[in-house]
Amino acid sequence: MANYLGDKERKVTTHRLMEMKQRGEKIAMITSYDYTMAGLVDQAGIDVILVGDSASNVMAGNVTTLPITLDQMIYHGKSVMKAVNRALVVVDMPFGTYQGNSKEGLASAIRIMKETHADTVKLEGGEEVIETVKRILSAGIPIMGHLGLTPQSINKFGTYAVRAKEKEEADKLIRDAHLLEDAGCYALVLEKIPSALAKRVSEELTIPVIGIGAGGDTDGQVLVVHDMLGMTNGFSPRFLRRYADLNTVIVDAVQHYSEDIKSGDFPNSEEQY
Ligand code: KIV
Repeated sequence: MANYLGDKERKVTTHRLMEMKQRGEKIAMITSYDYTMAGLVDQAGIDVILVGDSASNVMAGNVTTLPITLDQMIYHGKSVMKAVNRALVVVDMPFGTYQGNSKEGLASAIRIMKETHADTVKLEGGEEVIETVKRILSAGIPIMGHLGLTPQSINKFGTYAVRAKEKEEADKLIRDAHLLEDAGCYALVLEKIPSALAKRVSEELTIPVIGIGAGGDTDGQVLVVHDMLGMTNGFSPRFLRRYADLNTVIVDAVQHYSEDIKSGDFPNSEEQY
């Protein structure tokens, strides 16, 4: 339904993502972890901002997503929420805050919602976490699921290679996707799986499916903002498209600044009081 603000300014809701899927309009999602970046991506008109636990890698320099804590995710979520007017904001539930204990899962989700004011949470897994999913949903907290390559299980997988290439794992993924939809999740991320499988899941589910390394037939796409802006080095999976080379831009600018200080060029007479 049209809104007096127009679609460009209207706040994105979980309901609106469903409408977008029904209309065949693709959903654009990106990560952000801080106030300044979140303000920029919201200004650019992105539909969904994910405060991903990839903050563990790109913000804190950890090798995996496992070390990031609930307090740290809440800090990132709060910072992002201060900048965002339009996008739907989703905060990742970090490793160890929901697996194996649905009461703890609910308590963690409630902390995220109360302390960050984000719109929804995201968590990884299917059947193994379904009790937690149902408990969190019963409190009125919307959940985005996440299947395929689930980085919080990297120690079980032992590799970041494409998941669900074999029938058994693909069948389980399809079952898990339906379980999450039936439980009441409003959307699902599929990470690094064959595009044919992602297409099938996107067609079978009524909720929006957002892909990363899952081909072009999902209902939307997500990338880590530091990767797509070319700020990270040494991470070049096939699915990553770089839209800028900020690495070079930033290093060049800082070198220039440093040279100007050393040569006495900065500050000049107009840059002082
Ligand atoms: O944490 C994250 O950035 C994610 C995306 C890769 C989907 O979960």
